[in-house]
Amino acid sequence: MGAAVTSGAGTFREQLDAATTTLEAAGVQTARVDAEWLLAGLLGIGRAGVRMDLSRVLSAPLAERYADAVRRRARREPLQRILGWEDFLGLRIRLTEAVLVPRPETEALVEWALTLLPPPGARRLLALDLGTGSGCIACALAAGRSDLDVVALDVSLAAAAVARDSADLIVSNPPYLPTGLVAGLEPEVRSHEPRIALDGGADGLALIRRLAAVGRTCLRRAGVLVVETAGGAQVAAAASLLRGAGFQSVAVRADLAGVDRFVAGNA
Ligand SMILES: C[S@@+](CC[C@H](N)C(=O)[O-])C[C@H]1O[C@@H](n2cnc3c(N)ncnc32)[C@H](O)[C@@H]1O
Repeated sequence: MGAAVTSGAGTFREQLDAATTTLEAAGVQTARVDAEWLLAGLLGIGRAGVRMDLSRVLSAPLAERYADAVRRRARREPLQRILGWEDFLGLRIRLTEAVLVPRPETEALVEWALTLLPPPGARRLLALDLGTGSGCIACALAAGRSDLDVVALDVSLAAAAVARDSADLIVSNPPYLPTGLVAGLEPEVRSHEPRIALDGGADGLALIRRLAAVGRTCLRRAGVLVVETAGGAQVAAAASLLRGAGFQSVAVRADLAGVDRFVAGNA
């Protein structure tokens, strides 16, 4: 698997060809694109910059670092983790091994949440991002509404009580996978994403169940809870949990792929 990695100097084309061979052998579906992104990330340029300069020579020290990045990707570490960032609603979010790589579907969660807020008025609004991870939701909410103060929490819900009586919006992309499914995930997820970001308990609903109960008591009247789920049967189960906790006007919304994935309700 590592035989095709080259750590000597060579042109961009030679480096990319060797890296692509290595990544294909490791089962990476997007081998060429990933090879280009890894080189672009190393050089601090865009992917187009790499593709337009294929005869440029990569020096031996940089080639060594490139080979190291390719080896990591061949071990199925997520591309964004190696790059150290992911773009989320136009914001560049820093990533470490402690946080989940933000997913495109979560962008739709934030976009919907922003439409559920009351229009800008005299008073400032407060939002909570529960299970904030990289902070992508909190950052995008703050960037989306200048009249919004955002509190971002992770691991403990206790601090949510601080926001009692003033919180208008709780947004969360909680861990929602049933424990039994985690072992069968792709290596990028199973071996490289924090398990605490994935495992939602036996039925995947443990956190959503708590969010429904705690969120109902934390939100001011008519404040909104918006939650991402695994979709399908789970979104229906989550909607029932919200209704059972006393949320009104519970609604479900599809992601960009048309999968019913998000649920919202009014306290
Ligand atoms: C699916 S990740 C979402 C991360 C980020 N908000 C995003 O959308 O990319 C779930 C996050 O919830 C956190 N988490 C897990 N259990 C939690 C709990 N009991 N209370 C609060 N946060 C929790 C995890 O550490 C993880 O960062």
